[in-house]
Amino acid sequence: MEAQSHGTAPADSPVLGALSVEPLLTAEFDADPGAVYRRLRARYGPVAPVGLMGVPLWLVLDYREVLEVLRNESQWRRDVRYWRARAQGELPRDWPLLAGYEVRQMMFVDDEEHRAARRTHHTALRPFQDARSPEGWELRSAVARYADELVAMLAAESGRSGFADLGAQYTRPLLLMVTTKLFGCPVELGDELVMDLWRMLDGGPDAGPATGRALAAFTRLAAHRRARPGDDLTSYLMLADPDLTDEQLGRELFMNAVYLNDITGNMVLNTLLEVLRGNATVRRSLSAGQLGETVNRAALANPPVANMCFRFAARDVRLGGFWIRAGDIVSPSAAGAHQDLLAIGSSHMVGSTVSTRAHLGWGAGPHQCPSAARELGAMIVTTAVGRVFDHFTRAELTLPPDQLPWRSGPCVRGLKVLPVRYDLAHDIPLPHGPGPDRFPAAPQPEGHTKGLLAALRRLMFGGGKTRTL
Ligand code: HEM
Repeated sequence: MEAQSHGTAPADSPVLGALSVEPLLTAEFDADPGAVYRRLRARYGPVAPVGLMGVPLWLVLDYREVLEVLRNESQWRRDVRYWRARAQGELPRDWPLLAGYEVRQMMFVDDEEHRAARRTHHTALRPFQDARSPEGWELRSAVARYADELVAMLAAESGRSGFADLGAQYTRPLLLMVTTKLFGCPVELGDELVMDLWRMLDGGPDAGPATGRALAAFTRLAAHRRARPGDDLTSYLMLADPDLTDEQLGRELFMNAVYLNDITGNMVLNTLLEVLRGNATVRRSLSAGQLGETVNRAALANPPVANMCFRFAARDVRLGGFWIRAGDIVSPSAAGAHQDLLAIGSSHMVGSTVSTRAHLGWGAGPHQCPSAARELGAMIVTTAVGRVFDHFTRAELTLPPDQLPWRSGPCVRGLKVLPVRYDLAHDIPLPHGPGPDRFPAAPQPEGHTKGLLAALRRLMFGGGKTRTL
């Protein structure tokens, strides 16, 4: 049977806006989204109506239906102008998630406009994807070096044994350093910029102004690199499509920053967590040295893009147990689909190394993560996770896994902190004296990296505000 069938919705079939829906974002959802997906599936089947900050939408939960929505772009559109409730002015004023969707860039366009934007991205990202090209080689060694430097900073600050938050003291600064390097930022990206990306994605009360601030920062970066091109993604995007204005380029950088910075960072943290909480299959692949497989398994257990970007129905269509009407909004849930997938074939899924690639952590269909970006993301995650387990002889969670605090938001499943008790290997350099000035004992960075490390010291130890773009 097909996952969906077309036609005109029968007049007596339930209409999204008229259904009584339960709100998705609750304390239960923050703590245990899997329980919420299970309950919704038991009540409604593969597609469930839910409320998202006061707006009803269809949450697509089962693997087959999620794949259908991701793959069939003529039926499931990305352009927000297809959304009937928006076009008819029915959304609550200042609905917090709208600001991000109004930013017109590659992710939110369809057909040839979308394909052209993907070609531009592919051309611009390719040099960084290829480990044999100078840009690819340099980026790879920079990621490993930054990771080592951050561990050395930890040793300097807290000693060979102690307590650390692998979010604030390792993953977040690492991804800031990588983003600064890849985008060719003249000054460090500040933690405030990361917070603005969070505010936009999680739909906080400040989402609109936060989106505006982040966009303005990336437009300034585009203008800066136009005046002084370099060997960075910003300059390469400009080369790949010379017609891009600074505003357009700023919008593309902004969305790339979400994935490079926030999503990749969460993939690092989710992978570390799966290992630390004792997920047996994840641990087994790690101890077999299969880091790529470790990441696949962590993505299957806990994909950072838990619920993917909205799609809008082009025509009436039956999906799961409901008729979705033209212009309705749907959210395909990777996390829900993975739960379904694991339930269908738990024994062979968990045991086999090949089938874990069925995960939707990278999306699927025309808007899936571009191949060059995927390789880059995987390289960063495997390096970041690998370096932790190279340098730490012991790392244990200091909180029971079910008490770890998660961000509250509809799309991203991301930890706020990842607190561990650790012991470091003996080859990590130790500080010479007390206080933050001990840092020069860490491996001596050069040039650009030195500036970044100075900024990170301020960021991590509160010695002042990081300059923002
Ligand atoms: C482990 C890290 C990453 C994960 C888990 C990830 C995941 C995803 C997912 C799930 C989508 C599809 C979303 C949807 O269809 O709604 C996507 C799209 C995208 N990703 Fe990634 N991503 C990662 C790293 C990166 C990196 C490093 C970059 C750029 C440097 C990047 C750039 C993009 C772009 C531009 C799109 C939009 C593609 C389009 O709409 O055609 N991603 N990613």
